[in-house]
Formats: sequence, C-alpha cells, structure tokens
Amino acid sequence: MLLRRFKRAARRLPFFLLLVTSAPFILEVLIHIWRYKVPRPVAKLDPPFFTSCQEPDVAAERENAVFVMLARNQERVKAKKTIRSIEAHFNKWFNYPILFLNDEPWDSRFVAELNATAGGRGIFEVIPKEQWTFPDWLDRDAAKKGIKEQGKAGTVHAGQEGYHHMCRFYSGKFYQLDVLQKYKWYWRLEPDVDFTCAITYDPFVQMAKHKKVYGYTIALWEVGRSCPSLFHATTDWKELRGVPSSSLWNAMMEASWIPFPFRRFLSWIPHHDAYGDAWSLCHFWSNFEIADMDFFRSEAYQDYFNYLDKKGGFYKERWGDAAVHSLAIAMLADPQQVHHFEDIGYRHAKFYQCPANAPEGQIPGSSSLAKNKPWSPEIAGGIGCRCECNGKKGRNYQTYCLDKLKQPNTPKTGWFS
Ligand SMILES: *[C@@H]1O[C@H](CO)[C@@H](O)[C@H](O)[C@H]1NC(C)=O
Repeated sequence: MLLRRFKRAARRLPFFLLLVTSAPFILEVLIHIWRYKVPRPVAKLDPPFFTSCQEPDVAAERENAVFVMLARNQERVKAKKTIRSIEAHFNKWFNYPILFLNDEPWDSRFVAELNATAGGRGIFEVIPKEQWTFPDWLDRDAAKKGIKEQGKAGTVHAGQEGYHHMCRFYSGKFYQLDVLQKYKWYWRLEPDVDFTCAITYDPFVQMAKHKKVYGYTIALWEVGRSCPSLFHATTDWKELRGVPSSSLWNAMMEASWIPFPFRRFLSWIPHHDAYGDAWSLCHFWSNFEIADMDFFRSEAYQDYFNYLDKKGGFYKERWGDAAVHSLAIAMLADPQQVHHFEDIGYRHAKFYQCPANAPEGQIPGSSSLAKNKPWSPEIAGGIGCRCECNGKKGRNYQTYCLDKLKQPNTPKTGWFS
C-alpha cells in the first residue's frame, strides 16, 4: 500500500520539479511584461484642436514660425505641387514664410516660380557645405564604400550618398542653420505632397497654447534594415544619461517574453537593447512635422544626436531622421506634449491620412472658404473641414502602430473601461 503510493508520487515527481523550477521564471516574465504596460488615462489627453471648419481668423496674432522644404532644382514641378496645395488649404489665410533649402545653388527658374506660388513669401537658402557632408572624423572612403554596399543590398535609398547627408542634416544640423535662428516653430514640407482638407485654424498657435512640442499625422514602421543598431545605441545613451521611461517610450517597446537572464542573449539581434527588449520600429513619419525647434536645439537632444553621430550609423547604416526624432521625442518629451493632427488630410508617397468631414461643421456660406469647395459627404463622427476624400477609404491611416503610439493619450475603451 505504502509502496504503491510512493511509486505514484515518484511518477509525478518530474512534473512537480518542472513546475517548481519554472515558476520563478514565469513569474519574472509576467512582472517584466507588466512593467511595459502603458497606463490608459481616464480623460482624453490629446483631442483634435478643432473638429470642424472655423472661420479663418486672419487678424489673429501669429507664432514665430516658418515652413521648411528641402528640394533640388530638378524637383521644381513636384515642389510647386506641394506649395500650391498648402497655400490653397492653409497659407492663403495665414501667410507664413516658406524657406526652401538646397545643398546646391538655386536655379533662377526654381526661385521665380516657387516664390510666385508661395505668394512672394519664399526664402531661398543654400545649406553650408560643412553641414551637408561626412563628419571630419569619419573615414570617407570606407563610408562611401559602405554606402555602395548598402545600395547593392537593396535597402531603400541607402545607396545614395546625398540621402545619408539629408538624414544626418535633418537629425541634428538643421536647427542650427543661421537662417532658422530667429524662428521657434517649423512645419516641414516635401515635394510631391497633397493636403486634402482645409486647415482653418493656426496649428502653430494651438501647439503653443496647448504646450505641445511635436505634431505628426502618420505613424508607421521603420524599414528595419536601414537601422539595425540605432535602437541599441539609443538605449545605451538613454541609460548613460539616466533618462526615465515614459508611457510613450513604453508604447514604442515590445517587451521580451524570454525569462531573465536568457533575455540578454537577444541583445545581439537588431532593434534590441542591452537587456533583450525590442523597439517595435513604430515611429512618427517625419516628412510631415510641426515642431518646436527649441526641443531639437536643447542640450539633451543635441547630446543624443552627437552620441549617435559618433557611432557613424548615419553612414555605416542608413539611420533616418524620422526614427531619430521619434525615439528622442519618446525619451525626452512628455507624452502630453505630442499631438496627432488627425484632422489634417495629408498624402505623401502611398501613405495618407484623410479624415471624414464633420457633420454640420462645413460653414457652407463662408466667403473665406468659398474656393475650398466642393467637399465630400459629411459622415457621423467626422472631424475634417472640407476634406476632398470620401471617408470610405478609411477615415485615417489606422494601424496597430498608430493606435499604440496614441495609447497614452486616449481614454481606455473596451472591456475594462
Ligand atoms: C519674392 O517675391 C516678392 C514679392 O514679389 C519679392 O518682394 C521678393 O523679393 C521675392 N523673393 C525672391 C527671393 O525672389
């Protein structure tokens, strides 16, 4: 009797031992994952500034702001398309200057035509050579060879030397241009962009009023091959400077399910930090950006940029300014200082955001808006102003990526709300 019982217990022993030894690991993993949980505030922290058309207040005070477009002489037609669009949908009322930047001397035809399209508010500058080249301490020949190899490997734009200079320029040098020193705010434009809704209020004024530092329209995933070691370098800097993790930072992360201490082996995989946790590659698409340049001019940001620059990843890999800006914002800005312009219709390349029109919010009789017609149907829940899309093709470019970044800013919905 006793023997039989003993035998039965012995048979169960391996299972029991497994349970006992694995329990601490399972518990550790659960606690680890829980630490990356993003809290959901009860109130909506980042609603649109307005949810329908406004009568443009052309007499209101402006902010100290400028549009910025980097373009080449041969992009004249595409640049004109963008300027025509932003003028028709916003700047004809608000009259902000538009700064055009080039790494080469401007063509007189570009200057004449774009200045005319910009309503005579065009400023044309050439980027100083030392801001658009390899840093002194980098082995130039090795860098050029590396760029050629990246091109052969097929990473988007990675074979073009100029593209690397541009990413480095927009990441850290841009804010220090002499011509920009007198401005606080900028709105970045690219050639070949469509704005598809009327923007009848001043985003700079609203950003300042609501203490925002960074505004975006689209968030999506970075091309992983362009920046295998960027995240590791970023988290090394974050730890070195003792930067705490905000909810926005955690929203960009994917905590590892591998138990400690085995997790650390994952640090060798691209986009992982020294502890084996990963960046989801989610980032703000920086070709649309309305931002406070003082953020990028701050000691902390410049220190981060210089740290990255020294790693050489702008040339050895193809680190993009979008990823660099986004990771910096997630580290150094308060999540409440980030604004999603979900009411602005925007298209560049194949990506777009186009809100539906707000019901009874289109001010049909407005003479200021007389030329911003016709508009597509109004749809319940729409927030747009005279948007030129029908609301059927997806109200916004909604993805898991965007939803995740908005998480710290949106009220909790669903089962547990
Ligand atoms: C742009 O046009 C305005 C108004 O016609 C003019 O005053 C200004 O000098 C022009 N700027 C350039 C760079 O040509």
